[in-house]
Amino acid sequence: MPSEKFKLAVLVSGCGSNLQAIIDSIEENNLAAEISLILSNVPDAYALQRGKKHGLESVFLDPKDFPNRDDYEKRMIEILQTKSIDLVCLAGFMRILGKKFIEGFSGKIINIHPSLLPAFPGLNVQKKALEHGVKFSGCTVHFVNEEVDGGAIILQAAVPILDADDVQSLSDRILEQEHIIYPEAIRLIVEDNLEFSGRRVARKTRGN
Ligand code: GRF
Repeated sequence: MPSEKFKLAVLVSGCGSNLQAIIDSIEENNLAAEISLILSNVPDAYALQRGKKHGLESVFLDPKDFPNRDDYEKRMIEILQTKSIDLVCLAGFMRILGKKFIEGFSGKIINIHPSLLPAFPGLNVQKKALEHGVKFSGCTVHFVNEEVDGGAIILQAAVPILDADDVQSLSDRILEQEHIIYPEAIRLIVEDNLEFSGRRVARKTRGN
C-alpha cells in the first residue's frame, strides 16, 4: 500500500507566487508532499485562482463571519485538523496568528519573510531596508512562534542591494530567492532532515 503523503496547508492573502513555487516543486517531483488545502482570508486573492487551476481545494474563510479572532482561528484549526495537516505554510498570509493557533500547531507552522531576519521584521520591509541603507537584504524561512517574525530560522538567502534599486526592483529580486528557498525549506521538513539546538536549526548530518 502506498504510504500517505505529507500534507501541507498553505495560508495566503494575495498574489500567491510562493504558493505557485510550492505547487511547481511538487509537480516537478522535487517535493514529496501534497497541498491538501489553500486557505485565504481575502476573497479575491489571486492565490485562490492559482490553487483552483491546479485542482487544489482553495477556500476563502471570511473573518467577517466570526465575532472575533479567536473564533476565526478556532474554525481554521478545525478545518486543518479535519484534513490531518502536517505542516502549515504561511505564504503572504496577512494576519497575525494568535496563541491558540500557534500552540495548536506547535513546531508545524512556517513563514517566508522578505528580509534577512532579525533585521526588518514586520511590514514594508523592502522599503525599510532601502531607507536604512543596508547593502544586503534577502529572505528568511522561519518557524512561527508568538513573536512576530521571531521564530527559529530554517533557511535564508542574501540579495545584494544595488545603487539603482527601488522598492519594486528589490522586491522582485528577493521574490526570486523566496521561490527557491521556500520549497527547499519545506523539503527539509518533509524529509525529516532538520535537527535543532536551541534556536539553531541545521541539516542533519547523515552518515554514508
Ligand atoms: C512575499 O514577499 C513574502 O515574503 C511575504 O509576502 C509576500 C507574498 O508574496 N510574506 P506572494 O503572495 O507569495 O506572491
